[in-house]
Amino acid sequence: MSTILRAVQGDITKLSVDAIVNAANSSLLGGGGVDGAIHRAAGPELVHECRLLGGCKTGQAKLTRGYRLPAKYIIHTVGPVWRGGASGESELLTACYSGSIELAAQHGVATLAFPSISTGIYGYPIDLAAKIAVSTVRAAVEQFQGIEEVIFCCFSQADLAVYEDVLNQ
Ligand code: AR6
Repeated sequence: MSTILRAVQGDITKLSVDAIVNAANSSLLGGGGVDGAIHRAAGPELVHECRLLGGCKTGQAKLTRGYRLPAKYIIHTVGPVWRGGASGESELLTACYSGSIELAAQHGVATLAFPSISTGIYGYPIDLAAKIAVSTVRAAVEQFQGIEEVIFCCFSQADLAVYEDVLNQ
């Protein structure tokens, strides 16, 4: 069965999916952007579970419960900071997407939503990041079976337009 990939504009914390992905930092203890929004919406139990995880390296992913979110799970991944593109950024961003899909499949997740990892505070150019997001997810859902739908949740209309262009290529 082929997986549906689509882009929507909105707040990822509101989505009724099995799991949402968080664009976290290596402490996993919260921050700004989508990370802050997820911690606020999930409630204080989330940071308690995150404290037990011992952080997360750039390019890796770790799973927690979703607590007060509609989503059952949160997959926390740490994207690379954009340093011009010659510091392994694309490989690390690819690892965030493929590792998140692998973890989701291991937990029986059928519906999964990603924010646009690294393209906010971490400065990754949106057009480059969207291409990696879509191509990596397309390949990973073939390798790690069971995921029925992947939603790219864009915060802005401009980001949604970029993702829709890439999805239609
Ligand atoms: N729903 C969906 N997308 C959102 C939401 C939301 N509620 N809020 C923001 N975005 P960023 P990064 C978008 O900065 O670049 C944190 O402090 C946002 O517009 O959240 O990976 C962490 O703790 C952008 O398109 O993540 C790290 O320190 C995208 O989410 C650092 O930021 C990612 O922007 C990670 O930086």
